[in-house]
Amino acid sequence: MPRAALPLNFAHAALTIARLPNFGVRDIARRRSGQRTGMPELFVARSEDLPEGARAFVTANGSQIGVIRAKGQLHAYLNMCPHQGGPVCEGLMVHRVEEIIAEDKTYQGMRFCEDDLHIVCPWHGWEFNIETGRCAGDGKHGLKRFQTVEREDGIYVVV
Ligand code: FES
Repeated sequence: MPRAALPLNFAHAALTIARLPNFGVRDIARRRSGQRTGMPELFVARSEDLPEGARAFVTANGSQIGVIRAKGQLHAYLNMCPHQGGPVCEGLMVHRVEEIIAEDKTYQGMRFCEDDLHIVCPWHGWEFNIETGRCAGDGKHGLKRFQTVEREDGIYVVV
């Protein structure tokens, strides 16, 4: 299906292709002006190019934003870990590990908590809830979140 011609302003465009082996990372940024939210929006990818578990990166005002589709929703965060600035959005996504404690308080092992998906910063392993951006180990730390919009012609991040 042909895509509608949209006015593109490449003055601030960034185009970087970066693929990580596990996630099919795509980094394509095209700035478009006059979007419907009334805020500047950046085109991220066509919806079909960002399936469940995939992520894309765009650059806005010199900062990289990671856009991740996980648990059926889009999540966009500044790709900068609050610990020491690592590229947190490039980290592994794993479910929270929880300990199994029996009624008699004996330890029964560990299991993954399927409801709680984390992204793990590749530098030192800080984990963040993918839905809230809050740090799993210390809730006073969190990722800077951006609003996303998904339309017929693709996914946008509000910057
Ligand atoms: S920079 Fe992310 S855990 Fe240290």
